[in-house]
Amino acid sequence: MTSGRPIISIIVAIAKNRAIGKDNQLLWHISDDLRRFKRITSGKTVIMGKRTLLSLPSGPLPNRRNIVLSDNLTDCFGGNCETAFSIEDALKKVSNEIEVFIIGGGMVYQQFLPLSDRLYLTIVEEDFEADTFFPEIDFNQFELIESELITNDEKVAFQYRYETWQRKKSR
Ligand SMILES: NC(=O)c1ccc[n+]([C@@H]2O[C@H](COP(=O)([O-])OP(=O)(O)OC[C@H]3O[C@@H](n4cnc5c(N)ncnc54)[C@H](OP(=O)(O)O)[C@@H]3O)[C@@H](O)[C@H]2O)c1
Repeated sequence: MTSGRPIISIIVAIAKNRAIGKDNQLLWHISDDLRRFKRITSGKTVIMGKRTLLSLPSGPLPNRRNIVLSDNLTDCFGGNCETAFSIEDALKKVSNEIEVFIIGGGMVYQQFLPLSDRLYLTIVEEDFEADTFFPEIDFNQFELIESELITNDEKVAFQYRYETWQRKKSR
């Protein structure tokens, strides 16, 4: 797909109670999930909110085009990224791309969920205390195309699942 609208994919790690972050940090460290995130998004464009950019330990993500939503960001804090001042502005910047990844955080997921075509979820099967949550997903609007339960990750104290959902075609 070119000159129009790319596939909009959301990628997120989400707890059972839809928690995704606290104090501008993630709630867990799952190395396997970070590798999966890197594998899926490398070479692609990622769109994020300014608070998510500020939470990244080394700034904008390498090997990806980084677009950061902000009302006032102009310099990306010395990193290699572009600013978009609205959702429309961000979509204009990616109109020639095939697929873009929305990588958070809560405020940005909220705005992109209604526009999303695909969801790459990591579902942590526990509740977490948080200050940032993913919006409620109406799974009736999506079809599950991949699911994998991870029960044997010895580095974490909980089970998690990878799920990929595709929006049903009636849009
Ligand atoms: N679990 C996960 O997979 C995951 C992934 C990513 C992030 N997170 C977590 O999520 C939390 C951060 O989320 P958050 O909701 O606080 O912040 P956020 O969505 O990362 O960033 C919010 C900021 O983005 C800018 N923004 C958002 N929408 C905009 C728009 N339409 N136009 C212009 N600017 C816009 C604004 O920046 P200005 O104030 O500069 O205008 C706003 O303050 C952290 O805890 C982080 O660790 C979790």
